[in-house]
Amino acid sequence: MTKVKGIILAGGDGTRLKPMTDLISKQLLPVYNKPMIFYPLSVLIQANIKEILIITKPGEVENFKRIIGDGKKWGIRIDYLSQSKPKGIADALIIADDWLKNSRSLLILGDNLFFGPNLKNLLIKVLKVKDRSTIFAYRVSDPERYGVVSFDKGMNVKSIIEKPKRTKSDWAVTGLYSYDKNAPSIAKNLKPSKRGELEITDLNKEYLKRNKLDLELLGEGFAWLDTGTPDSLLEASNFVKILETRQGILIGDPSKK
Ligand code: TTP
Repeated sequence: MTKVKGIILAGGDGTRLKPMTDLISKQLLPVYNKPMIFYPLSVLIQANIKEILIITKPGEVENFKRIIGDGKKWGIRIDYLSQSKPKGIADALIIADDWLKNSRSLLILGDNLFFGPNLKNLLIKVLKVKDRSTIFAYRVSDPERYGVVSFDKGMNVKSIIEKPKRTKSDWAVTGLYSYDKNAPSIAKNLKPSKRGELEITDLNKEYLKRNKLDLELLGEGFAWLDTGTPDSLLEASNFVKILETRQGILIGDPSKK
């Protein structure tokens, strides 16, 4: 298997969580009993990834280092880079280009919380496929807020539409993406969208055009929670508390392989 490196995108302004984010990055705020970033970090660790890059906003690297460190205590290596301004999620691949050194990547957003009993096995299965890229979709009740993927019975992706007004599919593309080694060079050729960002949907659409995009559905038993608003942050904390205290399940623990 060729090497797969992990990227956590943890920049952004976190405007919806102001004033908490005036002082500290959103991804360092607590979700129940741990910093938010521990959840995506532990997803990458469960996928057996040994080298991880954390991308922060400028001036925040030291805060992240203080809380997370260099990864040695978890048997991995963690490096840090910063993003000059929030230029879009696909910008992560451009920032990571030299660091990746032609490796494949598993990119995850620093404020996304995934839970599923089979997530580890699913990721290990996906990462075995070398020359393709994969998006992971989750069924939502408000697809118009997300990038939405439609697909046929054979699980072939038919389209990905960013924030559609009307859609037949209610499967949202989540903040977890597995890319082949070409992702940085494709990202460099993307044009900024109307809102001035390098859109991850455009990167995924390019893979679709090249016939190189696979889809995995995070179906029954999975939870995908966003933690970007005060309400969703509270819900995520309650979710983790219930699982950990009532069911004895540990989530977001980077020491768990
Ligand atoms: P968002 O939730 O879209 O943005 P945000 O975190 O800045 O929050 P708000 O909308 O309240 O201002 O971003 C999702 C995740 O991706 C989050 O972890 C931040 C990260 N991100 C970056 O690091 N850089 C970027 O350029 C973008 C667009 C997002």
